[in-house]
Amino acid sequence: MEKIVSLCKRRGFIFQDSEIYGGIEGVWDYGPLGSLLKNNIKNEWLKRFVQQKDDVVLIDGSVLMSSAVWRASGHLENFTDPLVECKDCHRRFRADHMVDGRFIGEGEAKVANQCPNCGNREFTPARQFNLMFKTFIGPIEDEAHQIYLRPETAQSMFTDFKQVQESMRLKIPFGIAQIGRCFRNEITTGNYTFRSREFDIAEIEYFVKPGTDEKIFDSWLNEWEKFFLDMGLRKENLRRFEHPKESLAHYSKRTVDIEYKFPFGWSELAGVANRTNFDLSQHTKFSTKDLSYFDTEKNKKYIPYVIEPTLGIERLALALLVDAYQEVKGGRTKTTEAAKEVEVVLKLSKRVAPIHVAVLPLVKNKPLLVKKAKEIYQMLKPHFRCQYDEADSIGRRYRRQDEIGSLYAVTVDFESLDQHDATIRDRDSMAQERVKIENLIKVLKEKLQD
Ligand code: GAP
Repeated sequence: MEKIVSLCKRRGFIFQDSEIYGGIEGVWDYGPLGSLLKNNIKNEWLKRFVQQKDDVVLIDGSVLMSSAVWRASGHLENFTDPLVECKDCHRRFRADHMVDGRFIGEGEAKVANQCPNCGNREFTPARQFNLMFKTFIGPIEDEAHQIYLRPETAQSMFTDFKQVQESMRLKIPFGIAQIGRCFRNEITTGNYTFRSREFDIAEIEYFVKPGTDEKIFDSWLNEWEKFFLDMGLRKENLRRFEHPKESLAHYSKRTVDIEYKFPFGWSELAGVANRTNFDLSQHTKFSTKDLSYFDTEKNKKYIPYVIEPTLGIERLALALLVDAYQEVKGGRTKTTEAAKEVEVVLKLSKRVAPIHVAVLPLVKNKPLLVKKAKEIYQMLKPHFRCQYDEADSIGRRYRRQDEIGSLYAVTVDFESLDQHDATIRDRDSMAQERVKIENLIKVLKEKLQD
């Protein structure tokens, strides 16, 4: 994990937020490569679950929602974690994240007996702590103006259910999808970005007829898992975790987590929940607006059940980085120059790699080579995610590109000037092929297509 953290900082994937002021725990900024990685994940998700579906529509709800939403959804009452406080240093910890005073992160619930901060053994009894961030709307900071930053995107898909269904004339079963910023005042953060206080959730509320929910749940679970495999995660690093009845969220009839084998242990990457008609029924009751669906064929109305596949974008980004990270002792090319080094290659899939093509002149002190390389860079840029690099030896540049997962390097050498060609180097096989400049776009497109 330390190696991933160091690589992400050094190479512009992830930075500590407000670092120059000491940073804020559990809040992260995504740098130039990290934000490309996140965007690629989001685009792939949108392509698969919105663009390619006939029955799923996208919305973009707000972070700020009426407090009434959270009263109805049960979050005000139930979106809590048990918290113990050290009686000596007053640090607070999640009661279910401690074993023998050691922070274990995700895992079985046991209460701490030794403070990891000061070693004291006395704690307050566990108390419930609400994880929603509060703020005020307008200039008056009183209880009547207090609202919350959303901890999940799901609720606007319920409160907008009727408007979406009617405006788009949708028939059940159909889904509403959303990717958006969520906020949770996590008590214990840690494991790098795994448990952050601000993150993006991509989720779908899929509205179904009661009675069809269990079968549709299973098919969403399979589809959801397949997405992670297709993004490049290794099968052996994924598993399912069926939540026992007693640990289900207050709204759920069944939840299955898809767990990833992170360096700190198997932990939740994503999930699928059967939310029944809990949310629509609650919002109907609290708002007094009828959120039932009228089945025109059966001439009957009912409150739909909801199957919810959900995913944390940053968790998938972290899993992809971990899964892709490989070290090659003695160097990849086995040259004497690299013999003592450990070279890193980030084998990100073509769907998510931040850079498709790096364009490199063989040397930077030959103006004709540099000119040609820059021309090729300009030519490729509209078609691919490109990076131009001329500093240091070509070997070092290949290593730098391998380390950030760039799929191909296009190198312009002396022969290129006469032959009007360039070499394409493949990140994984390191094989090089010469391709005419006029064919570069076509050849690279073929390599990058599914
Ligand atoms: N609408 C359902 C819902 O929000 P959740 O399991 O609480 O379910 C959804 O959260 C997903 O968001 C999780 O599967 C996980 O990937 C991600 N997630 C949850 N808490 C997170 C945190 N503190 N930091 C980063 N990602 C988080």
